[in-house]
Amino acid sequence: MQEKRDTSGCIMIQGPMPIEAERLAARLENVEREETGNFIYYIGTLAGHTVVVAKTSKGMENAAAATAVGIERYRPAAVINQGTAGGHDPALQVGDIVLGARVTNIGNLKTADRPAGAGSDPFAWKPMDVMASEGSAGEDKNAERIRCYEADSALLAAGRSVKDRYTRGRVVEGVIGSANVWNNELDRIAWFHQRYGTSVEEMEGAAAAQICAAYGVPFLCVRVLSNNKTNGGAYDPTTAADCQRFVLELAAAYLRREA
Ligand code: 5AD
Repeated sequence: MQEKRDTSGCIMIQGPMPIEAERLAARLENVEREETGNFIYYIGTLAGHTVVVAKTSKGMENAAAATAVGIERYRPAAVINQGTAGGHDPALQVGDIVLGARVTNIGNLKTADRPAGAGSDPFAWKPMDVMASEGSAGEDKNAERIRCYEADSALLAAGRSVKDRYTRGRVVEGVIGSANVWNNELDRIAWFHQRYGTSVEEMEGAAAAQICAAYGVPFLCVRVLSNNKTNGGAYDPTTAADCQRFVLELAAAYLRREA
């Protein structure tokens, strides 16, 4: 039987959809592919370092589970979650990249009290921190807060150091909001942008960040705008490949710093 590869201390780079992981996987050398659940892990090397590329599948549940399974199996020293996102900031164009200085779950919400027949007012909803305590989040006033996951400073620094290598658009730092929701209501998007300071929305980053925080694994989310409703930016799937190219530069810079 083949001996199990020692991957401990590797970098794990995640992408939800095949178009968000395959370009990365294609750049690895000595690749082995392991599939479990909805996830595919490509274990390989990049410039002599062990890198695991994970195709997590879309959404918060898949991202969280793929992160936990990936950490338990491969013992990464750092996790980068990357892929496409939709703009919340009208100043950002399709093709721009956001380094997630902070990531937050924009689906963790508590509604106001309203009697039967009184309808629903999403603008009155409050943030809800499910990690505030082990008790009921619905009853706990202290849970009415936005929980943010901060980027690891060394990963963020690596991203800053290669900003100029990205030519398709700008590379900015900002807040990435995650939930299993695709918002198309401009007033709703503006509400998140104002209340949460979100630059973009997507469906995985905060789930992966929450699990990395639980395990104490350094984390960074990097997202390219594939669409931006706030300024008419039409969906462009080719942005996914550009993001992966940038993330490879970022990972190489991070590994150089470690050497
Ligand atoms: N809203 C939510 N998710 C988006 N994604 C790209 N744009 C958006 C958007 N505007 C990403 C998600 C998910 C897939 C639908 O694409 O992260 O993986």
